[in-house]
Amino acid sequence: MTDKRISYSKRSHGCGLLSRGDAGKKVELSGWVNSRRDHGGLIFIDLRDRHGLVQVVINPDGGGLFELAGSLRDEFVVKVTGSVSLRPEGTANPNIKTGEIEVIAEDIIILSSSKTPPFEINDDIPIDENLKLKHRYLDLRRKGTFKSFNLRHEVCQAARDFLNEHGFIETETPFLTKSTPEGARDYLVPSRVHPGHFYALPQSPQLFKQILMVAGFDRYYQFARCFRDEDLRADRQPEHTQIDMEMSFVDQESILAMAEDLMKRIFASQGVELTTPFKRLTYAEAVGRYGSDKPDLRFGLELVDIGRIVKGSGFKVFDSVLEAGGEVKGIRAPGCADFSRGKIEELTKAASIYGAKGLATIQILEDSQIKSPIAKFFSPETITQLIRELSAGPGDLILIVADKPSIVSESLGHLRLRLADELGLIDEEEYNFLWVVDFPMFEYDEEEKRYKAHHHPFTSPKEDSIARLEMDPISAVAWAYDLVLNGTELGGGSIRIHDQDVQRRVFNLLGIADEDIEAKFGFLVEALKYGAPPHGGMAIGLDRLVMLIAKKESIRDVIAFPKTQAAVCPLTGAPDEVDEKQLKDLGIKLK
Ligand code: AMO
Ligand code: AMP
Repeated sequence: MTDKRISYSKRSHGCGLLSRGDAGKKVELSGWVNSRRDHGGLIFIDLRDRHGLVQVVINPDGGGLFELAGSLRDEFVVKVTGSVSLRPEGTANPNIKTGEIEVIAEDIIILSSSKTPPFEINDDIPIDENLKLKHRYLDLRRKGTFKSFNLRHEVCQAARDFLNEHGFIETETPFLTKSTPEGARDYLVPSRVHPGHFYALPQSPQLFKQILMVAGFDRYYQFARCFRDEDLRADRQPEHTQIDMEMSFVDQESILAMAEDLMKRIFASQGVELTTPFKRLTYAEAVGRYGSDKPDLRFGLELVDIGRIVKGSGFKVFDSVLEAGGEVKGIRAPGCADFSRGKIEELTKAASIYGAKGLATIQILEDSQIKSPIAKFFSPETITQLIRELSAGPGDLILIVADKPSIVSESLGHLRLRLADELGLIDEEEYNFLWVVDFPMFEYDEEEKRYKAHHHPFTSPKEDSIARLEMDPISAVAWAYDLVLNGTELGGGSIRIHDQDVQRRVFNLLGIADEDIEAKFGFLVEALKYGAPPHGGMAIGLDRLVMLIAKKESIRDVIAFPKTQAAVCPLTGAPDEVDEKQLKDLGIKLK
């Protein structure tokens, strides 16, 4: 029987699917010439398809076959007819799956020739990113590159299986839509039939999935493409895919439990057993102890508050910070007491990028001697107490920042990550999941002098925060949660507001006037008036998830046709200029 993986095609077997058990069989294979070697009067071809390599042997036949085989070049596409035979004693290749057999060619047909590729189809050769993406089809032929896409497929399959089993309905929502407030800039699409009007590509299906809950769908999911015009980084692309989910008649616990089981299923598909429940930290704990709302908990290096200890000591820098409501915190860098001046300057510079005006250090030498530019401001008792508070000892280095809380967290949070990396404290094999919960409802934008939604404006405040929304918005806590894996924000979601009055109050706090609510989200507010069930959900960043499982550095490695850091597609050349006529049709004039 034909292997299902190559059924309905003009082949009898897949190249990389042959094995010992096929010895003696006549086969018809098709694939790419991975390499050709001529020796001992024989020609060997490694023939490649998606499933792997198989060795084809061409004997000198006096006829045209040997000559034809000699003309084959790398990446030619050929059809080979022949018979499978066990390799002669001592010539098996344990490095490939088909290493015990070879195919003795009886006929070869060239289906397609190939130009000499700009780079070798070989995993071990580093290739310039632009060249690689320009010829992505060649890059994707490489085993290592392709592997991530097979993985991606399996992850999607496991997620679909899980969600289907639990009554989620896969539903598509529009790409041509109205702006959704996820906090990034929109990609706009001009309308030809309505000059001066624009669709926005969705930053997420947020509003539609909520409306599906009002419609009684009960449970929805979608592998949703989301478009965000924001600055790109290794884990950010202009378009990304979310496993987007929404559920009715749930509370936060329901969703966290569902998502944990979903993660379990996905990782089980890759042979990894996860332990649930995942760890949890409140937003305040995460930021306070690790300097980040997406802390990497694979290592310690916690931030320790030493404000209490250093207060009133006479060191002006610390005292004035504390008087102004700031913080003084430190971290212990184990075994770093011997860091050079240059190294410490480097760390100080790194902290200054995050706004730190200085970095105080205490070096505890092996003989317990203290070396510190701030020691002179403190009594020996205070220094001892400080060292104890940080659980530091001989050989350690203490790094201290005093500033307003956001700067202390960001700068020390960054140093924490950097030191863990440099000191090799991270176990690359570990999958460390964490829920960050109890996010604030709002953050204050100093520049724009207004409140912004921390998650998005449809996030429900916790019951005890509803009463004091207007009185003290900054202290209001939301039913919002993020899923963090190894220090990457993998997903996020919330319980939504299903009460239109609360929704209106939140909009007002965000400075969105009633008429703007009507213009921007009137359809949602209207829908909420027709029997909205309590509902909530979340979205997992699929690209980031696959990147972390595949242990890749960037989501570009797990997206078939990604954009570069400059938001360009080297393969197609997008974005590109368009015809004058197209612009005219759209009523657009370029400045
Ligand atoms: P959020 O904006 O947190 O939530 O996005 C959910 C997850 O999507 C991933 N992600 C990205 N991945 C790659 N490139 C990007 N530019 C990018 N932006 C986001 C992240 C993130 O955690 N509608 C809400 C979800 C909800 O409330 O249900 C939303 O979009 O992994
Ligand atoms: P100064 O007396 O200003 O030279 O500072 C003495 C030490 O305190 C130096 O090591 C500075 O790097 C450090 N320092 C200055 N400002 C801060 C700050 N805001 N937080 C932590 N350390 C600081």
